Amino acid sequence: MIRTRFTELFGVEHPIAQGGMQWVGRASLVSAVANAGALGFITALTQPTPEALQEEVARCRDMTDKPFGVNLTILPAIKPPPYAEYRAAIIEAGIKIVETAGNKPQEHVEDFKAHGVKVIHKCTSVRHALSAERMGVDAISIDGFECAGHPGEDDTPGLILIPVAADQVKIPMIASGGFGDARGLVAALALGAEGINMGTRFMATKESPIHEAIKQQMVANDERATDLIFRTMRNTSRVARNAISRQVVELERSGAKFEDVRELVAGTRGKVVYETGDPDHGIWSAGMVQGLIHDIPSCAELVSRIVSEAETLIERRLERMIARQPAMAH
Ligand SMILES: Cc1cc2nc3c(=O)[nH]c(=O)nc-3n(C[C@H](O)[C@H](O)[C@H](O)COP(=O)(O)O)c2cc1C
Repeated sequence: MIRTRFTELFGVEHPIAQGGMQWVGRASLVSAVANAGALGFITALTQPTPEALQEEVARCRDMTDKPFGVNLTILPAIKPPPYAEYRAAIIEAGIKIVETAGNKPQEHVEDFKAHGVKVIHKCTSVRHALSAERMGVDAISIDGFECAGHPGEDDTPGLILIPVAADQVKIPMIASGGFGDARGLVAALALGAEGINMGTRFMATKESPIHEAIKQQMVANDERATDLIFRTMRNTSRVARNAISRQVVELERSGAKFEDVRELVAGTRGKVVYETGDPDHGIWSAGMVQGLIHDIPSCAELVSRIVSEAETLIERRLERMIARQPAMAH
């Protein structure tokens, strides 16, 4: 067992979280993560309405009695979803842990805190982590440039971002982006984090609700199989490299505006990828950590493997590297 301020704060067995994932963070995955002793988050906006989200929470409760949370992602949108209604639905459903992500979470954080909900805010820069800390969030998930989804515009990889943030953030902080095995967990702990958050690695598990062919594609992919789209719009997103992502990057290079790629990047097309298993149907998210994914385990197998190998790494490999006494010269 590895105990940290993260496991203590959220009452979970292991210092591992499964962050919000559009179209993937559903009850089947989140309950499996919870039953494995880690902290999973249902993705609020995957559900078409706040009522549907409450039903998803109920479905998850039918499958686990361990703690789990809900992710609320606040992203720039031409027609924003009814965030306040989703937030109210989360509170009304009795959810006690929320992962917020994205811009200006202040009003959401205030309301969640006023209702006794613990908030972990996911962000990609130290300044946003510190501003969330000032807002009163309970924990930070710091997401490095390696991550799937939105890495921000600073391009700071985890190896730098995590220790720089750890030096300044006082509340418990977990590391996110590029984590997929025990070595990553041990490294994160060494860098000053209290645990890890994984997205991509949890996508390629038995209980993840996406087509088997996409999971196999992730096993086949290596660490280079991602593209950064929307760079030119300062809304960068790291996605699995495919025919569409290449096309979007090329169009952006030749000066395309959002309108010119809107059809290609439609979220509904990405959803079809997960449903039908055609990896080239649309844009779908996955991170560089694909290079470390070689199998499709159950969440229980994955979590227990990471934790037990991490213990072995610390106790055997690292411990034995310490030369306790300098050899005496004769
Ligand atoms: C398919 C997919 C969808 C995602 N959707 C969201 C989302 O809706 N909201 C969010 O805050 N993060 C989202 N993320 C980011 C993850 O929560 C997590 O921060 C990220 O995957 C960590 O990097 P990793 O993939 O290298 O583990 C998504 C990630 C993936 C792989």
